Amino acid sequence: MTGRRRSKDYRLYENTDFSFPCGVSPAISEFLMNLDRLQSLTQQALSDISSADSPDALEHVRLRYLGRKGKLPEIMAGLKDVSPEDRPAFGKGANDFKVQVTKALGERKESLLSTATPADALDVTLPGNTGPQGANHPIRQIMLRVINIFDRIGFNVATGPDVDTVFHNFDALNTPADHPSRDEQDTFYLNDGTLLRTQTSPIQIRHMLQNPPPVRIIAPGRAYRRDTPDATHSANFHQVEGLYVAEKVSMADLKSDLSYFAQEIVGKKTKVRFRPHFFPFTEPSVEVDFTCHVCKGKGCRVCKNSGWIEILGAGMVDPKVFEAVGYNPETTTGYAFGMGLERIAMIMLEIDDIRRLYENDARFLRQFA
Ligand code: DAH
Repeated sequence: MTGRRRSKDYRLYENTDFSFPCGVSPAISEFLMNLDRLQSLTQQALSDISSADSPDALEHVRLRYLGRKGKLPEIMAGLKDVSPEDRPAFGKGANDFKVQVTKALGERKESLLSTATPADALDVTLPGNTGPQGANHPIRQIMLRVINIFDRIGFNVATGPDVDTVFHNFDALNTPADHPSRDEQDTFYLNDGTLLRTQTSPIQIRHMLQNPPPVRIIAPGRAYRRDTPDATHSANFHQVEGLYVAEKVSMADLKSDLSYFAQEIVGKKTKVRFRPHFFPFTEPSVEVDFTCHVCKGKGCRVCKNSGWIEILGAGMVDPKVFEAVGYNPETTTGYAFGMGLERIAMIMLEIDDIRRLYENDARFLRQFA
């Protein structure tokens, strides 16, 4: 139509209209036709809306009329061809179309939803969709178990800072300056002369400096060493330290308490074995083995056929340590022990590589949740 209005032919007969016998000019007639079209389009839309029988079908109808490629944008595109004086009326017509169709869509949607059959409707008896549930990390689980076991025989939890002093981490623990563990290679020293503790043993020192005997503490925490990570080493790991100080504490106390611990954490028939060892802060010092939890001592792949598994270090507190914290070394006695939690987790949960404990792979962690 617009083409015709602009054609040369048309301009020749500008004021004499042959094709519209009623005498209406082509522009006006076109406008009226457009309005007509709008009206029938509205009728069509309303009837489509009322016959849409599902929210999905209704959405198709909406797109057909109001969508980006639907009828309404098509109509609006025609606006530029309407003569300026007719534009307001045409615009109003288009807007009425939009308002009516939108309203009808809304009403239809509501009625479709309210009359939905029970199968389509929300079933409030269905279980909800819960998000993934968190759980304690295996290291934390073991830490909590160890604490709980010692809590039952009167031990209190003590903690200390990860950044500690050379005094707490080495000197007071009778670790002379030429001891290999003080080598730069093993310790992260910080610029101000402090260090990242290499063990949880400095918590013993801090606690004894603050409290007179008797002392009975269990001290969990992180420890740091300049180790190159591999299947059994990590520069950051976890330990739990134990310290019992009173009068007349003996190796027999150490053995019976650790044997109680072994039975609680591994199982009733578990035995403990002491092997002589050296730690600067205990004298005598021992390494403590538990009977293998897999073969119960018969010998298997896990314990390399020995029937025993090395679990922790322990010993009788060296009098030099008591001296360093201001306890009377003549009359004070005590035992101490320390264990690596990653090691225990790897043995008990049969984890082949320590790095798996730090990768935060949910598929791995979920197995221990
Ligand atoms: N601190 C030692 C380590 O990191 C473990 C240890 C051994 C702690 C004997 C103790 C102990 O309290 O008595 O290897």
